[in-house]
Amino acid sequence: MPQSLEEIFPEIYKLRLDGNTLLVTRNMTPGRTYYGEPTYQVDAVEYRSWNPTRSKLAAAIMKGIGYMPVRPGATVLYLGAASGTTVSHVSDILGETGHVWGLDFAPRPLRDLLDKVARYRANVSPILSDANKPMEYSSLVPKVDAVFADVAQPNQAEIVVKNASYFLKRGGWAMLSIKSRSVDVKQKPRDVYDAQVKVLEGGGLKVRELIELDPYEKDHAMALAESA
Ligand SMILES: C[S@@+](CC[C@H](N)C(=O)[O-])C[C@H]1O[C@@H](n2cnc3c(N)ncnc32)[C@H](O)[C@@H]1O
Repeated sequence: MPQSLEEIFPEIYKLRLDGNTLLVTRNMTPGRTYYGEPTYQVDAVEYRSWNPTRSKLAAAIMKGIGYMPVRPGATVLYLGAASGTTVSHVSDILGETGHVWGLDFAPRPLRDLLDKVARYRANVSPILSDANKPMEYSSLVPKVDAVFADVAQPNQAEIVVKNASYFLKRGGWAMLSIKSRSVDVKQKPRDVYDAQVKVLEGGGLKVRELIELDPYEKDHAMALAESA
């Protein structure tokens, strides 16, 4: 099969296979997959397919985000980890010297994150908690290089601001997946995105990019912001 692999950010690759382009990460646990994702062997290395319709971070990469704070060796607080579909790829990217704290307030998916992902990956720590209450997990999470949020809540930008003020290093990055319908179903998505950007900026974050995630995720955008 004709195939070629291009590294677009450190440890994030595009695999071109028979005319299709797939986003992939190098599997830290060869032979083990997490949510039925296909794997591919290139030069005896196993890569896991990262589907942009199932991960807003993957969608932002496919839509051409210009900077990627999730990189080898980084520390990441991930809010809205669910059962770890995206967290598993973040773990691949960070590698053994990085770490991701994956937080969710829903016990069932968090249990899957623990049993099906963190058990096999030493760089993943699940936390059962409410992202509105950073004080409650402040003893578990150090200052991090990046705060990532995919919580689909009306106050999603405030949640990022609050967590950034507790946990983000100076010069660190915040990423917010904005779900327009979680904020206001009647407002135009673009107006919701602008309002969420204002909340981030009012909280001292400098928004560097805003990327609409359609067609991978309808009425979603990713905001990329730098701490002051
Ligand atoms: C869209 S799903 C996340 C999917 C996940 N990011 C992925 O790509 O695999 C949103 C998650 O946010 C969680 N969530 C919503 N509000 C939250 C809050 N205040 N604190 C913690 N988790 C929250 C939900 O329980 C749900 O699992």
